[in-house]
Amino acid sequence: MSSEAEPARYAVVGNPVAHSQSPRIHAEFARQTGQALSYEAIELPRDGFETGVRDLQRRGYAGLNVTVPFKQDAWRICERLSERAELAGAVNTLVLERDGSISGDNTDGVGLSRDLRVNLGLEIKQRRLLILGAGGAVRGVLGPLLGLEPESLTIANRTPEKAETLARDFADLGRVDARAFDQLGQRPYDLIINGTAAGLSGEVPPIAADLVGAETCCYDMMYRLDAPTAFVAWAQAQGAARACDGLGMLVEQAAAAFALWRGVEPDGASVIQLLRQG
Ligand code: ATR
Repeated sequence: MSSEAEPARYAVVGNPVAHSQSPRIHAEFARQTGQALSYEAIELPRDGFETGVRDLQRRGYAGLNVTVPFKQDAWRICERLSERAELAGAVNTLVLERDGSISGDNTDGVGLSRDLRVNLGLEIKQRRLLILGAGGAVRGVLGPLLGLEPESLTIANRTPEKAETLARDFADLGRVDARAFDQLGQRPYDLIINGTAAGLSGEVPPIAADLVGAETCCYDMMYRLDAPTAFVAWAQAQGAARACDGLGMLVEQAAAAFALWRGVEPDGASVIQLLRQG
């Protein structure tokens, strides 16, 4: 256990994790809010997540952010889950309690929702939303997105059955339906969110250009600091009203985790600006 005099210790755990921006983001939040804490990036073995977390807990760490590929593992090891983490089936924020128990939350969805509404000033209520992908990343944000009361939320995925499962699982929370990429019709959506992993290989989901109208905003849950992501570049080429990447979502999910751990809300917008400046 760390003594009260030492700054509280936090980390992001993942594999790989060396390029994570989280240490920089949390250091900035700590500076802003005058909180004394340390925050590192720690790589855990792919087959050693729980052992690694329990070891960090014994060593006095107070909280962890969890990134790829461990968010589902984190969900499984928690003694307590927030309602939104329960629904997401994944955990990105752990509180390592001093009694040895572990609590889990998922701040990805509220991070996305805050970036869309507050930082980008987008109206979601009564708008037609399309989300591409049906993996863990999309499941993690559906609850908070439906909470913004869109007119409709369509989930489209390369493997349509996975979109159908998600639409069924979230049907109680709003008007949500599932389609294949080639069954989306031609009417433009108000907001298209890319939650697929296609960008990892520089690809863009194969959706019709007609779905992007002059009023359509496009949002990529992935981000890049050095260049537009493949989806952002594609959306710009289709004439989207706006095309944004997910740096703001990353910062805002971190802000929500920081608030959970420290009880103070940092300012995400200024940190987004700082990261963009390099
Ligand atoms: P994550 O945690 O990032 O969501 P995941 O659960 O493996 O990772 O899901 C990846 C998502 O990206 C899936 O929706 C996947 O589509 P399938 O369900 O058909 O596999 C989607 N995806 C990955 N590569 C893609 C590509 N090149 N084009 C379109 N969709 C892709």
